[in-house]
This record gives sequence, C-alpha cells and structure tokens, in this order.
Amino acid sequence: MNNGPLILGIETSCDETAVGIVRGRTLLANVISSSVEEHARFGGVVPEIASRAHLEAMPSVINEALRTAKISLRDLDAIGVTAGPGLIGALLVGTSAAQGLALALDKPIYGVNHLSSHLAVDALDETRPLKPAIGLLVSGGHSSIIQVINLVDKVSVLGATIDDAAGEAFDKIARLLELDFPGGPAIDRLAILGDRNAIDFPRGLASSDFNFSFSGLKTAVSRYLQNTPKTVRADVAASFQEAVVDVLLTKALRACTETGVEALIIAGGVAANSRLRSEAIRRCAEAKVELRIPPAALCTDNGAMVAAITSLAVSAGMTSSRPGFAALSTAPVERPIWA
Ligand code: KG4
Ligand code: ZN
Repeated sequence: MNNGPLILGIETSCDETAVGIVRGRTLLANVISSSVEEHARFGGVVPEIASRAHLEAMPSVINEALRTAKISLRDLDAIGVTAGPGLIGALLVGTSAAQGLALALDKPIYGVNHLSSHLAVDALDETRPLKPAIGLLVSGGHSSIIQVINLVDKVSVLGATIDDAAGEAFDKIARLLELDFPGGPAIDRLAILGDRNAIDFPRGLASSDFNFSFSGLKTAVSRYLQNTPKTVRADVAASFQEAVVDVLLTKALRACTETGVEALIIAGGVAANSRLRSEAIRRCAEAKVELRIPPAALCTDNGAMVAAITSLAVSAGMTSSRPGFAALSTAPVERPIWA
C-alpha cells in the first residue's frame, strides 16, 4: 500500500543522528550518521561529544534523507522526533531541530517515545497486518517484555530488568574480553568462533516473573575469566551470549503463552544479535508463535522507527504534541506520544 501520511522522523537519543522518511507504512529513506567512533576510546558514549556530533550532522542527514526519498520538506504531512528517553543534551538537539522545522513549515509535530518507536519498526512491513503482540525490547538502556495492543496508545510493561539492560551486559562483558565498543556486535562476531555449550553460565531469574537480571551473569563471567586465565575467549563469548539469549526468549515466549498472544516482536539494538535471531526463529516455530523481527539494520537506533510510530499516530487521528514540548531523559514506554 503506497498511500498514507508522509512523515519525516528524527532520532538523536544517543550517538546516532538519524532521519527516516515513511509514507504510511512504506520506508522511503533511512539515513544515519553515527559518532560511535568518537566514543570508542572512552569505552562508552560521552554525552557532550554526542550532542556536538548531532548538531554538526543534522543538516546533511536531513538533506540526504529528503534526496533519497525524492521529496521536499513542503510535501511532509507531519514531523516526528524522539523526545525521550535518552541523553538529555542529545535529545535537545533533535527536538530543537524538529520544532524549528515544524514551526517554519507550519506542520504538526509529534514527540515520540524511543522505546515504543523501536517496536513500531514492525509496522514498516506493509505486507503484514498489525496485530496485538508481545514485544521483547532489548537495547543498551532497556530490557522489557511489553504487551502491545496498539503501538500508539495501548502498551503495558509485563516485566523489565532489575539491574543491567541486555545491551549493557553485552557491552560490559565485551570490555572484560578486551573487545571494541560497542560490545554487542563484537561479542556476536567472536561468539561465532566459539562453543556456546562450553561454559554453563547462570540464567538470571530463570523461573520467576517477566523481569530480567543480568548482574549475576556478569559476575559469573568475570569470576570465570579471573579463575581460568587460559580459557578460549570465543567460548566465553558464545556461552555468555547463549545465557542471555536463552533467558530473553524463554521469558518472552512464556509471556506469549500466558497472555494468549500469538505474535512476538523483537526490537532494539540487541535484536540485531545473530544468535538471538536464529534461536528466535527456531523457538517461535516450535511454540507456533509468529515471529516479527525487523531487519538487523532497523534494530539499532534509526530515524525510520520514529517516522513509523509518527505515521501510525497520524493515521490513528491522534492529536499532535504541544509546540515547545520538553525532552525527557526518562520516560515510560506506556507514553508513546507526547501530549
Ligand atoms: O537500541 P540501541 O541501538 O540503542 C539504545 O537505545 O540503547 O541499542 C544499542 C545496544 C548496545 O548495547 C549494543 O552493544 C547492542 O545494542 N547491540 C548488540 C548487537 N548490536 C548492537 N548486542 C548484541 N548483538 C549485536 N549484534
Ligand atoms: Zn534504542
């Protein structure tokens, strides 16, 4: 279907300056400029560096997205922008740029939730009808199991991490293994060379509710590395990754069973993990649950996801956000669109 609102979405919550353009549920452009290499030597994202990089990259990223989509700013029906959660200085660059554009062009603007946007990438496959689902949202800052009735106004959290997020666990273990930042992709690559059954690392909170805990696993890997200095690092990476993947999928599929929901959306940076993706395909087929997982490039932060959720909000007739709305560093997923 190639109609629906024409939306430009801006994402600057962390270290990616990203702009996406969609028409309805069709992706027209997805341009990303990352400052990740500027942060690498610090072993993590430095907020001030990220904000400055957003400011520098914003005009060219917007222009390239417009060129790719073959549209002009005047054609837009609305503008969407990540308003939180995220690094506040980084968010402010995006929300200021978007609010300036909306004002100059006299277009409606929607401040959107970064977490809900990750899940909304699912809408960009226009061949599939939207339906209620369980969302497994696994990123650098969050690990949650979310019941999705409607992406723009009916989502509720069934469980979340009580300590580290899944992506954070990947990044911390990568540091212990002396791998590059960001750690997720580095562990993913190393793990391919290792034996995932080599070490039986603990599965945190395996049997209880829908909450996650990764701090015990992190301690176990750290102790193992101290006590076994001659270990094969690829085996450690593969076994650690297996423990994370196992606990994420076990809980997400249990949420599907217990709620009677027949589809599982997996989203957020960690959804790019190759083992999580292949194991999700296998386990969902076994459980007769429809797996909805975006292409890996749309799992990590991007502007397409912001445009996607904004498009859904416009199509649902939701009121746009108040001009001058504030960016918030923390914001619950239950609030997908800013008032
Ligand atoms: O969603 P995202 O791009 O940014 C946040 O909103 O946090 O997620 C970034 C996180 C990082 O912790 C990164 O290490 C992790 O996603 N990640 C991965 C992979 N690619 C990115 N984790 C495991 N395997 C990957 N292939
Ligand atoms: Zn994210």
